[in-house]
Amino acid sequence: MKRLLFLLTLIVLFVSPLFADDAEKTSLFTTPVFLQIPSETSIGMVWGVNGPAAGFVEYSTKEDMTDAKRVYACVPPLRSIQEKVLSVRIRGLEPNTKYFYRAATMSVSYPNAYHVKVGEPEFSAVRSFTTLGANAQASFAVINDTHAEDDTVKAVNKKLKEFQPAVVVWNGDTADNYKSEDKAIKSILKPGLAKDYAFLFVPGNHDYRGTWVRNLDTVLLTRNPEERNSKYWALGRNFAVRLGDVALIGLDTGESKSDDNPDLLGLAEFESYRELQTQWLKETLERPDIKSAPFIVAFCHIPMIIPRDDVEPGQSASYVWSRTTSYQWGQLFKQHGVQVVITAHKHRYRCDEPTADRPWTHFVGGGKSPQTATVFHGTVEDGKLIIRVYRVGDDSIIKEVKFEKRKLERR
Ligand SMILES: [Fe+2]
Ligand SMILES: [Fe+2]
Repeated sequence: MKRLLFLLTLIVLFVSPLFADDAEKTSLFTTPVFLQIPSETSIGMVWGVNGPAAGFVEYSTKEDMTDAKRVYACVPPLRSIQEKVLSVRIRGLEPNTKYFYRAATMSVSYPNAYHVKVGEPEFSAVRSFTTLGANAQASFAVINDTHAEDDTVKAVNKKLKEFQPAVVVWNGDTADNYKSEDKAIKSILKPGLAKDYAFLFVPGNHDYRGTWVRNLDTVLLTRNPEERNSKYWALGRNFAVRLGDVALIGLDTGESKSDDNPDLLGLAEFESYRELQTQWLKETLERPDIKSAPFIVAFCHIPMIIPRDDVEPGQSASYVWSRTTSYQWGQLFKQHGVQVVITAHKHRYRCDEPTADRPWTHFVGGGKSPQTATVFHGTVEDGKLIIRVYRVGDDSIIKEVKFEKRKLERR
């Protein structure tokens, strides 16, 4: 018996350090880096960490990273120490330029201010992204209503990898709701959707639901404030960017329920938010880089057209958002020659062809199952904008539309 106990003790002494090593080798990264909020001169990066941790991103035009610059995760004047998610905003980039990047995470031990210990950096693999701009490759993809359905996310991700677009628009309803930071990390960062091309996020009504959702900007960053006049700083989700010959404009339809709906607990102000976007859109469509674009494509989550004869837009509590979107945004699109509006939300693909009164094509993206999900791919080929809509389930093209350049007199 004594010999057995002695043997067991020896085994424990021998094996336990091995487990300790394994624990130390656990990666400080819990997710890949998620590229987002791209512009001509900036980009955002967010990744999950096994914290408490600090971190930085290095970027360079050279693949060997020899002249890399470093930007720390930081809310000035303090560099960040976070438990679960780190983010970096990189500014001062050149338009239409390929950059290589890698993120680094360091463990932080902070028992008190006199005994802080920061570990050695653990680096991600080196990957690349390309900044936007009027000379960039005009290739964009659109996904929507993935609702954190693993199979759907996998299926659309596979399709995106085939296209290798310059950017992807995630047109809302990334999940049903966000009750915790862990849910956001699992739904948005874990799938590794945005390692090689950046995502432009357009919120859906479900992206405003859940007790934790008011912190969503820690995972999905708002746009850089310097992109807009200070009177529009509340519009951190709106974007207007040039991608080659195409201008991409993102609008936020917000909640589908009216502000006085009891479900919103008197804690929402979407109506004034949408009205402010009308002013922003009016000015944005006059911006020289947008006005001069041969093609303009707009995105918003909730469809702008209600295909019902018995409903007047804006007159029903069920369609309260349409007071702003169908009337105000729609008129501006018409006046400024916007050719395409891509929406989502209904979980059923639809294309409303242009009419004499509404000269823009209105798309509604597909559903949240792999069978009904769609991926849009837009490219400029031989001077025309071509939008192809793929049904992910059977990999078929269900629609292909070619758009001529906007007429000069409209500019
Ligand atoms: Fe949805
Ligand atoms: Fe929706």
